[in-house]
Amino acid sequence: MKTKIKQIKNLALKEIGEAKNLTDLECLKVKYLGRKSELTVVLRRLKDLSEDKKKEVGEMANKARKEIEEGIKNQELRIKELEFGDIESREKIDITYPGAKIKKGHLHPLTQVRYEIEDIFKSMGFLVVESREVEDEFHNFDALNIPKNHPARDMWDTFWIKNSKSKIPNLLLQTHTSPMQIRHMEKNKPPFKIIVPGKVFRYEASDATHESNFYQVEGLMVDESGKVTVANFKSVMADFMRSLFKKEVKIRLRPSYFPFVEPGFEIDVSCPYCDGAGCRICKRTGWIEILGAGMVNQKVFASVGFPEDKYEGFAFGFGLDRIAMVKYGIDDIRLFYSGDLRFLEQF
Ligand code: PHE
Repeated sequence: MKTKIKQIKNLALKEIGEAKNLTDLECLKVKYLGRKSELTVVLRRLKDLSEDKKKEVGEMANKARKEIEEGIKNQELRIKELEFGDIESREKIDITYPGAKIKKGHLHPLTQVRYEIEDIFKSMGFLVVESREVEDEFHNFDALNIPKNHPARDMWDTFWIKNSKSKIPNLLLQTHTSPMQIRHMEKNKPPFKIIVPGKVFRYEASDATHESNFYQVEGLMVDESGKVTVANFKSVMADFMRSLFKKEVKIRLRPSYFPFVEPGFEIDVSCPYCDGAGCRICKRTGWIEILGAGMVNQKVFASVGFPEDKYEGFAFGFGLDRIAMVKYGIDDIRLFYSGDLRFLEQF
């Protein structure tokens, strides 16, 4: 029996010394000290021995047990030391070390220009009104004095929405921001001055100066007859251009035609690049054509139910993209929609 105990003890200590992790060690604990372990079996047989032997073997078995317990405890410490001993140096954080720089994005150049334009008009007392992208034929055309079969409809090649489940007939993607003139006047009585930035859509092929989707800013200022004149309009425009291009620019009105204004104009500004001398941006003319405008046609007031000749006002609409191109000297509108970071990162 004594040899047996010695054998068990030696084997146990050997295996314990070789245990590589805490799980293995736990198994060995059960194997050598558990209720079904060899050592326990040996101890159970002590009762068959003589008193003297019982004492001798019992003492020996208990000593072996203690030694095994000790061995397990020591090995446990050793394993923990190996696994976690250097945790402090492994997981030490140098809080003085400079952090990795996170790349920050920024607003798209068109958004930047839009915010700038909104700020300028707000400083002149204009209200910024949101436009829609999906419109109906009434607001986009009829109410603006562009009835069906009117030749002026050709000015706006239209994306019509087919098979719409809406109850509203003839939906389309707005071809300009002017429908918001109507919607605003349906709900508000003059006096008011608003601008309406919005996304517009035209069924056209794209080239360096045309995109099938681009941005416009509409303007509308209305008051009682006699209170808003072409002179007011010209001065609002001059103030706006001066603030936007950050220099003195000249304004020129040329007669033009839009069904919803009478008289209608096309507005040119003296080229902010060459101050009118002629350059690449103004195609050597010294002038840049920048917006359509005019005094609101009485027929438009009639379509929102305003009494005849009671009100007067001006309306204008310009391409946000076009303004941004002039402001930054960009010669291809498609760059704005290219998603090309080499372009976008310059703003
Ligand atoms: N809606 C016109 C266009 O898209 C611009 C415009 C707006 C002209 C307001 C006159 C008055 O071309």
